[in-house]
Amino acid sequence: MTNVPAILPVAMGKKEIALLPGMANRHGLIAGATGTGKTVTLRVLAERFSAIGVPVFLADVKGDLSGLPRPGGDNPKVAERVKQLGLGGFEYEGYPVTFWDLFGEQGHPVRATVSEMGPLLLGRILNLNDVQSGVLTLVFKIADDNGLLLLDLKDLRSMVQFVGDNAERFRTGYGNIAAASIGAMQRGLLALTQQGADRFFGEPALNLRDLLQTDASGRGMINILAASRLMTSPMAYATFLLFLLSELFEQLPEVGDPQQPTLVFFFDEAHLLFTDAPKPLMEKIEQVVRLIRSKGVGVYFATQNPLDIPETVLGQLGNRFQHALRAFTPKEQKAVKAAAETFRTNPKLDVVKAITELGVGEALVSVLDPKGSPTVVERAFVLPPRSRLAPLSPEERAQVIRDSALYGHYERVVDRESAYEKLKEKAALRQAPEEAGGTVPGEVGKGGRAAEAKSQAGILIGALAKSAAHAIGSQIGRQIIRGVLGSILGGKR
Ligand SMILES: Nc1ncnc2c1ncn2[C@@H]1O[C@H](COP(=O)(O)OP(=O)(O)OP(=O)(O)O)[C@@H](O)[C@H]1O
Ligand SMILES: [Mg+2]
Repeated sequence: MTNVPAILPVAMGKKEIALLPGMANRHGLIAGATGTGKTVTLRVLAERFSAIGVPVFLADVKGDLSGLPRPGGDNPKVAERVKQLGLGGFEYEGYPVTFWDLFGEQGHPVRATVSEMGPLLLGRILNLNDVQSGVLTLVFKIADDNGLLLLDLKDLRSMVQFVGDNAERFRTGYGNIAAASIGAMQRGLLALTQQGADRFFGEPALNLRDLLQTDASGRGMINILAASRLMTSPMAYATFLLFLLSELFEQLPEVGDPQQPTLVFFFDEAHLLFTDAPKPLMEKIEQVVRLIRSKGVGVYFATQNPLDIPETVLGQLGNRFQHALRAFTPKEQKAVKAAAETFRTNPKLDVVKAITELGVGEALVSVLDPKGSPTVVERAFVLPPRSRLAPLSPEERAQVIRDSALYGHYERVVDRESAYEKLKEKAALRQAPEEAGGTVPGEVGKGGRAAEAKSQAGILIGALAKSAAHAIGSQIGRQIIRGVLGSILGGKR
């Protein structure tokens, strides 16, 4: 881009502190107690990235970021900061924004297919234990082997039912499928459906390219995911963001050390990602964060305390903003000391003392220098944001959504033939000569009747073999296997 300086001024210490675009994919951290200015810092970073043409993804957890499309000028504290820092030429400005919403209300609907989500992450959303997750993986495998597409939740429900009804038959090829595991999945699926998650799964699924857009003047799109409602299920929130990260990792090409990031991904309330995460998942998160850098994606975690983030991940966050922390209790004092120790020392600055003294919108800042080493930590004022702090009204927001080039595409649900329809069709064929009342996949069966189930499975598998061979050769067939199950969590592509 022309006329835009390719640095990212973000704070004012003794002099201006700027992130280097070439180092911005080496991740970052925004930490601090509640009300200390984390979200404003995140906003300022997003604005700077957008200004140099870098698209951004962020989750709006408290609903206080929707003012980004409008110029500011509404906030006395911001005006005061402009004056205090003597920022000549400061101009209020709105930014290009795309609103997204898993519930499809506050933005374009965001969907993923069940197979993209993969058994590991789904197992986590469904609250499955290791054994149950293992059985879910088998369900996916059986679907793959039989060319049954798992797109939406009803596909998965009927597939789980089908595998449960034919557990005996699948035992030789796939291993033990305990009724208890099938039951746990069905309960989890029911709960998920009751939470309104039906609409997260299906098509058209999110095309990641739509997150990587720039506007007509070359500014990066700021993608805002409405997350306040999603936060009522923190596990689903964390899992969904992790899913997005891993999809980006899988789909984006290697770029080595780019001049500027392809995308910057902000992970607010980052501690949720790590709470109760089992060790294998933790290792994979660490791995994704480490490797996604070479895809040009910078990940910035925002959280209250840096110690919320495991050391292996924390060690990879090069660009740091530490806002104030409280130090009243011994536990808090310990946390402050530990937070201080994560910085490269500055002989002229007592970091421990400073962390407890910082005012709102003030931070200890250390960024990566051109060689990739952290600069000496400095006490600095975060620059004031240029966009409007007050959220958009529902009407203003609806207008932004309607004006988007994407409007209409994700709003229309597509329900093509997949596992649910196929299983239903085959069951109907099988039942046609009989009286009604048999076990229909897709409905909760009554169990028993092993012999009938066996012959039913036989017919099904025979009938499906052809479509399996077809599907596996096709793009869709490959997609089933890919997902998160594929390269990241399974180690194979
Ligand atoms: N850089 C800044 N310039 C001017 N004002 C600021 C700045 N940072 C923060 N403020 C003021 O402080 C208020 C609180 O900041 P912010 O919402 O970012 O805190 P937070 O740490 O995200 O809080 P919470 O943990 O509750 O989400 C802002 O609404 C704004 O008025
Ligand atoms: Mg906040």
